[in-house]
Amino acid sequence: MAFFSSLSFFLLFSSFLSHAAGWVGVNYGRIADDLPSPDDVVKLLKTHGIDRIKLFDTESTVLTALSNSNISVVVSLPNEYLSSAASDPSFTDNWVQSNISHFYPSTKIDAIAVGNEVFVDPNNTTNFLVPAMKNVYASLQKFNLHTNIKVSTPLAFSALASSYPTSSGSFKPDLIEPVMKPMLDLIRQSQSHLMVNAYPFFAYIGNADKISIDYALFRENAGVIDSGNGLKYSNLLEAQVDAVFAALSAIKFEDIPVVVTETGWPSKGDENEIGASIENAAAYNGNLVKRVLTGSGTPLRPKEPLNAYLFALFNENKKQGPTSERNYGLFYPNEEKVYEIPLTSADVEGGVGSTPAVNGSKVIKNGQTWCVANGKVAPEKLQAGLDYACGEGGADCSSIQPGATCYNPNSLEAHASYAFNSYYQKMKRAVGTCDFGGAAYVVTQPPQYGQCEFPTEY
Ligand SMILES: *[C@@H]1O[C@H](CO)[C@@H](O)[C@H](O)[C@H]1NC(C)=O
Ligand SMILES: *[C@@H]1O[C@H](CO)[C@@H](O)[C@H](O)[C@H]1NC(C)=O
Ligand SMILES: *[C@@H]1O[C@H](CO)[C@@H](O)[C@H](O)[C@H]1NC(C)=O
Ligand SMILES: *[C@@H]1O[C@H](CO)[C@@H](O)[C@H](O)[C@H]1NC(C)=O
Ligand SMILES: *[C@@H]1O[C@H](CO)[C@@H](O)[C@H](O)[C@H]1NC(C)=O
Repeated sequence: MAFFSSLSFFLLFSSFLSHAAGWVGVNYGRIADDLPSPDDVVKLLKTHGIDRIKLFDTESTVLTALSNSNISVVVSLPNEYLSSAASDPSFTDNWVQSNISHFYPSTKIDAIAVGNEVFVDPNNTTNFLVPAMKNVYASLQKFNLHTNIKVSTPLAFSALASSYPTSSGSFKPDLIEPVMKPMLDLIRQSQSHLMVNAYPFFAYIGNADKISIDYALFRENAGVIDSGNGLKYSNLLEAQVDAVFAALSAIKFEDIPVVVTETGWPSKGDENEIGASIENAAAYNGNLVKRVLTGSGTPLRPKEPLNAYLFALFNENKKQGPTSERNYGLFYPNEEKVYEIPLTSADVEGGVGSTPAVNGSKVIKNGQTWCVANGKVAPEKLQAGLDYACGEGGADCSSIQPGATCYNPNSLEAHASYAFNSYYQKMKRAVGTCDFGGAAYVVTQPPQYGQCEFPTEY
């Protein structure tokens, strides 16, 4: 009996250990002209229990606001300084003195990201990366900060030449000898970790026909079996992280830990950014937080906690590029939540959901799509499509007749959209049924025409 209970205690204990939970931080990007003051941001972080953040520079007002907050901070040396940092040890000495040592330890700086996604920097700073990292590390040694502050650099996921199947993960061959190996030697020698930015969203929008949205959003799904090693993946992020581990193993750096320095999902996107929505962003980020805070490691590294920084704290109105770029935030600049998700273990245990916070009346079902008219094509084309849909096509056009609920707005575009969607839904959203000679396209948000509701079932 005694033997039995100590055995079960042992089993309980070891299963507890193998479920080493990870932690979650948030990137505090500031490419915006409407954000709260750094002091207010620190209050916001504390209110929501966020105790790790990552910055894209060493802005002194931000580092000062963070002092004595007990919030751990990753700071960055921006790419534009890499050439100076690489060529001039006195540059990094001065930088470490005035931008790191000046704030540490009252500001809990725990790592320095030397550059960001350097391999895809249009200014071609790759050759400066490893010398810059070495100089930053040497300068930290001079100030005796090198054991408490780690040096690394966030890689874009495109540093991998292969990531599917996961076990085939490998770095781009031209990066391995000149950059990856010397960088990983430094990371190993300084007991640091590799930083990787991983966005299942990008993989999903590029392959929405092949990747299940549930797999991308950590929802229930059949999973994906890695044909190389038989491991089963239940979400795309873990598959991406394990592809990095596979790439590390392939060049004999299997001992290097990995931290996901950016991951996230936009709450809004352009028409072609399929899957960008508040509901999907809430699902991705909320399910990720639950997974990280309660789960084990990845299938390939079950005992290593999965640690990740969400991107990003705020929607950033001055970011360039598609609409999604300005809509990754957990918060609007006025500090209101974009959606409700758990951020701490207490939230997870308290059952905080993953739902839209904004007037969350209409929760859009996973993967739901509608068909709408393209208002830019010739009216004759819209009319022809409308006539077909309501005639031969058998769409239900009763709601757009005079006096019916969708008659207003009384425009060809609105009526055609209603008819096209009715036809598309009737055809069970089959590929090619939302076209009408190029007069229609699929959207992932409910169409907005007056008070008209666009059904998704017929
Ligand atoms: C500071 O944060 C650490 C975890 O990062 C925690 O263990 C410690 O208790 C905190 N200290 C204070 C004074 O809140
Ligand atoms: C380092 O800190 C100084 C003083 O705050 C500031 O003027 C300078 O711009 C900072 N350098 C970098 C590279 O951030
Ligand atoms: C590239 O370098 C030029 C000159 O230093 C600078 O003006 C520009 O902002 C840089 N572009 C990027 C994307 O870093
Ligand atoms: C970047 O640098 C590499 C190596 O020095 C060179 O081969 C390549 O042509 C450069 N690319 C650009 C766009 O300057
Ligand atoms: C819901 O939120 C959206 C976006 O913030 C807003 O445009 C809309 O007016 C709101 N609707 C209601 C009924 O409050």
